[in-house]
Amino acid sequence: MGKDMLMWDETLFKDGNVLELDYLPDHFSHRESQMQSLMYSLRPALRGMRPINSLISGPPGTGKTTTVLKVFEEMKKHSEDIVFIKVNCQMDSTKFAVITRVYQGLFNVSPPSSGVAFIKLFEKVMNYLIEKEKTLVLCLDDINYLYHEGHADEVMYSLLRAHEQYPGAKVGVIAIVSDTGKLYQFDPKVNSVFLPEEIAFPRYNFSELQDIIGGRIDLAFYPNVVMDDVRDAIVEYVDLTGDLRVGIDLLKRSGLNAERRASKTILVEDVEKAYETSRLLHLRRSVQSLTPDEKLLLCLIAENKDVQTGDLYILFHEKTDLGYTRFYDMVNKLSEARYVDADFSGKGMRGRTRIIKPRYQPEDILKCLE
Ligand SMILES: Nc1ncnc2c1ncn2[C@@H]1O[C@H](COP(=O)(O)OP(=O)(O)OP(=O)(O)O)[C@@H](O)[C@H]1O
Ligand SMILES: [Mg+2]
Repeated sequence: MGKDMLMWDETLFKDGNVLELDYLPDHFSHRESQMQSLMYSLRPALRGMRPINSLISGPPGTGKTTTVLKVFEEMKKHSEDIVFIKVNCQMDSTKFAVITRVYQGLFNVSPPSSGVAFIKLFEKVMNYLIEKEKTLVLCLDDINYLYHEGHADEVMYSLLRAHEQYPGAKVGVIAIVSDTGKLYQFDPKVNSVFLPEEIAFPRYNFSELQDIIGGRIDLAFYPNVVMDDVRDAIVEYVDLTGDLRVGIDLLKRSGLNAERRASKTILVEDVEKAYETSRLLHLRRSVQSLTPDEKLLLCLIAENKDVQTGDLYILFHEKTDLGYTRFYDMVNKLSEARYVDADFSGKGMRGRTRIIKPRYQPEDILKCLE
């Protein structure tokens, strides 16, 4: 590889940063009503009152996380007494990991890593809020990753009833569920205290996607790099998945593909080539958060499509030696995180027979697990 290739300074990107997935857009349209609803729910906190809880739901890549971050950003300008913390439950998927994040958010240090119980950290957090007269607004992002083994219910229950044990503690919870199908039902005990304002994030329609993708193109590329037909090819792909993140990743990869051809414009074929990778973005990202045993289990499910739990357990046990209870918990976790459908067959001699079906193409799952 020659020096020329690395030094090549002709680029199509005016500002590549706006195509990074953690970029928070300045210009955020088509979510005005959702931002409004969330603001109204949180507004009481500006007057020292307990905020209304929210439940945000919608398919992947529809602006849920961005909306919360934009509202936090706005509200921070107006109050010193509210602490805004967002926990990514995909990374922190136990109740202990969640309270650790909150603790870090409040105290700017990590709690001692061993020998401290959840309840101890929780107590410290609550006492701090009371003493400093602060309100905690906690966003549990992608809370669906917390459903397994009752973690979500326990965290929610502790937070929502904190004021009973710690009078004066003010906490508002924003739960974000990334979901296309049926919503998880919290434990009735949780529901009776959660009583959220529900905020729905439908998929963007074609013209909204055109507008959003078009706006990102203008920021990211020099003029005339992406013509309208290429933009629309990208929008059509985004429309297939409904996930804007795929579109933004497509822009980045198509741009790089065009640069590789030393072209001054992006062509539809650059987009087509990029889509092979971009379409799996979501799956690949979420698979990373699984433990090695969970990855193995998912791999077995992909290799043995529509397998019964009993047969699957035999395969899994052969490789891991883990017992049925652990196995069953993991099946539930994969199902709750929507990698698989695990429906009871309804037939069968025993009521517990379930058929495990991958929700993605098995080849795609295996590709992402590589
Ligand atoms: N209305 C919009 N205008 C501009 N950019 C947007 C808009 N909605 C979403 N985006 C961009 O799309 C990407 C995905 O948005 P976001 O992360 O908020 O989705 P999400 O609904 O939280 O998805 P997931 O359920 O997968 O977490 C982000 O990079 C964000 O900047
Ligand atoms: Mg999100």
